[in-house]
Amino acid sequence: MIYPIVIYGDPVLRKKAVDIEEGSIDVKELATDMFETMQGAHGIGLAAPQIGKPIRMFIVDGRPLEEDGMEDFHKVFINPQILEETGDPWKFEEGCLSIPGIREDVSRNPVIRISYYDENWEKHEDTFDGMKARIIQHEYDHIEGILFTDHINNLKKRLLKGKLANISKGKFDADYRTKLPAKR
Ligand code: NI
Repeated sequence: MIYPIVIYGDPVLRKKAVDIEEGSIDVKELATDMFETMQGAHGIGLAAPQIGKPIRMFIVDGRPLEEDGMEDFHKVFINPQILEETGDPWKFEEGCLSIPGIREDVSRNPVIRISYYDENWEKHEDTFDGMKARIIQHEYDHIEGILFTDHINNLKKRLLKGKLANISKGKFDADYRTKLPAKR
């Protein structure tokens, strides 16, 4: 099932998501739906709040990047906890399916250590670096209610304000189904 992707301005994107209790939902089915939704939108990561669910789960798929080492970077993260972020921060241009049309440089640490459960409820503790770490950090931010535009400097934030307001009103182009925030 393909979900519409929640667009900037919806309060679900600003909530700190809650842990999933094992057995409370079918995480395999949800993961399948999230992969289908993400692939339909040509994304490389998707967090549950982006389909309207304030729960601590996200998926990643780095294969479209066609970079060495990304072949098996197709993973589900449930109840993840970033344990450590290290190394000298590096900048890279990020985008987000919930903020169509905007791309900005974001500075992040290059190495992370993270614990999480997979879709079989097996616990893992792994280290990721480079683009893999960045994709995870971006998605992890989503379940903390943080968006990549929160990381940019104040001047750029001011310049973006009008664009972001327009996006929340539906003024953007996207070739996937979206859900606009309710009008206030
Ligand atoms: Ni995003």
